[in-house]
Amino acid sequence: MTRSIILGLLATMPALAQEGSQVFISRCMQCHSTTSTSHAPAPEALAQIPWQDVLNTLETGSMKVQAQNLSHDERIAVARFAGKDSGTQILPELTGFCAAGSKPAVSKGSWNGWGVDEINTRFQPREAAGLAASDVPSLKVKWAFGYPNGRTAYGQPTVVGGRVYTGSNDGTVYAIDARTGCLYWMYRAKALVRSSVVVGPDKRAYVGDLDANLYALDTETGKLIWQKKADAQPFARITGTPKLYDGRLYVPIASQEENAGANPIYACCKFRGNLVAFDAKTGAELWRTYTSPEPKPTIVGKNGVQYYGPSGATVWGSPTLDLKRNLLYILTGNGYSDPDIKTADAIMALDLSTGKVRWSQQATPDMFNWDCGPRGGGGNCPANHGPDEDFGSSGVLLDAGKGKQVVVAGQKTGVVHAFDPDQNGKIVWQTRIGKGSTLGGILWGIAGHNGIAYVPLSDIDRQKPESGGGLFAIDAATGKILWTTPPPRPACLGKPGCTAAQLAPPSLIEGVVFAGSMDGHLRGYEMSSGKIIWDFDATRTFPTTDGVTANGGSFSSTGPTVADGMLYVNSGYGGQGMAGNVLLAFSAK
Ligand code: HEC
Repeated sequence: MTRSIILGLLATMPALAQEGSQVFISRCMQCHSTTSTSHAPAPEALAQIPWQDVLNTLETGSMKVQAQNLSHDERIAVARFAGKDSGTQILPELTGFCAAGSKPAVSKGSWNGWGVDEINTRFQPREAAGLAASDVPSLKVKWAFGYPNGRTAYGQPTVVGGRVYTGSNDGTVYAIDARTGCLYWMYRAKALVRSSVVVGPDKRAYVGDLDANLYALDTETGKLIWQKKADAQPFARITGTPKLYDGRLYVPIASQEENAGANPIYACCKFRGNLVAFDAKTGAELWRTYTSPEPKPTIVGKNGVQYYGPSGATVWGSPTLDLKRNLLYILTGNGYSDPDIKTADAIMALDLSTGKVRWSQQATPDMFNWDCGPRGGGGNCPANHGPDEDFGSSGVLLDAGKGKQVVVAGQKTGVVHAFDPDQNGKIVWQTRIGKGSTLGGILWGIAGHNGIAYVPLSDIDRQKPESGGGLFAIDAATGKILWTTPPPRPACLGKPGCTAAQLAPPSLIEGVVFAGSMDGHLRGYEMSSGKIIWDFDATRTFPTTDGVTANGGSFSSTGPTVADGMLYVNSGYGGQGMAGNVLLAFSAK
């Protein structure tokens, strides 16, 4: 692997520099690979070494030179990714713990998981929200919590039983008092936690990490109840929030292998997207459904490396559960390597009980792996490759009038699609709202209520920071755009990472759409007209309950959650946006 490839890899993924698998792909794999001719131990051999020993090798041992440009946190991340997990936790040093023995106040509403309900509407009804449209203009910060790891505040807050649960950029999961912001407990997962926590009826909190580990924690203490590798494929990860229903956890599996495709000595690509159902009580696997068939040897690359395909069709987002039809919908990412498959860039409907594929419908095909990118060239780029504009998020089931329903989903192409669940996913309408790009078009998701989808547009262009962005209300029956609110001109123009793009999934209460922007503003829009009725600028420092110096930044991968009279949101997205490390809790009182 040449130096330019390594640097190229790093250049495109600064936001995820602390993700162990990313560091491994860009800094270790050129030597530590099964097909490498160097005498470096293969990944399977490294996996036998306790991760603390791997860390020592990087900090003081024979790999000191190879790791010299990595931060301490990156070394920890890559050591935990490459080495063996010993179960030892390293927790951040924080203050602001809740008084010993104290319990959260009784609460009326919860926002559990990504989509708030099974069908991913992201609409919180009046009673549970405890917040009316008329309260929104007077929302103020009630408390703030700082993440000690200062660049990106990942994870969407889950609010259940008076506690806020959130994952973070170094893998620490926090349980925080919803009213006061004091800290009940922390748990350190093996890798970064980007998806949301899901709370079960039996005092259990479930969460997945970017190394595809799934954890069941005690909601009262944060103690580990069980841990499970949700998928053993190399580079597998959990980015979409699992759904918990009737004692089962439905877990979407994504992967980082698309990036490894840029490395010509890596025998790409073998990853198969999948959805796996676990028994929530025991962690036992009940069924697993792949989105892509078994890969077979295809061509031999320029370096004599055997390549494989088909592959990919990653599941990035939280599944949608259609209890009426006993179906589970997933949106899939692109195929990584030839041959082409129809289940990539598609919606797939699985039987909720058995996992059997009932139907699938492709939207706009887009084969891709990073061998197609500027740093590739090993010969494994698919023949009819696209620009990497697949589905990165979830579908929402919406009423379309006359007893009909549609599943609406936004693609990175900039097109919103509606699929008919009663006609094997037949495309009912397609509405283009933007140009599309690898970071959307539509990236992290949409919301919907009363037959209308609320869709933010990214179309991020860092060369033209004032372009892109906007919020669209689209009629679920016809695909007609009912209103559009263009983005206000960003006040932060000129600041690195400041753009008008809107990547974050919106969240809804009766009468209001909340949507964050890469310009560091969280806005409340009148649901009927799109008029902005509240605008909060998070790009400043906040006093925090845990003593960590914290500032807000871009709103990107996750949206706000509303429960029991309060609104919670993570702010800060280094790399593609403005860095920040704060969890903000608002109330109108
Ligand atoms: C330029 C090639 C190269 C790169 C890059 C590289 N390594 Fe190594 N690594 C080796 C070789 C060769 C060895 C075998 C030991 C030796 O001869 O020093 C090794 C040994 C190791 C060992 C010690 C294994 C043992 O038996 O104790 C660990 C752990 C390790 N590497 C981890 C990493 C990690 C993690 C990275 C990325 C941050 C990395 N290496 C990057 C070539 C490399």
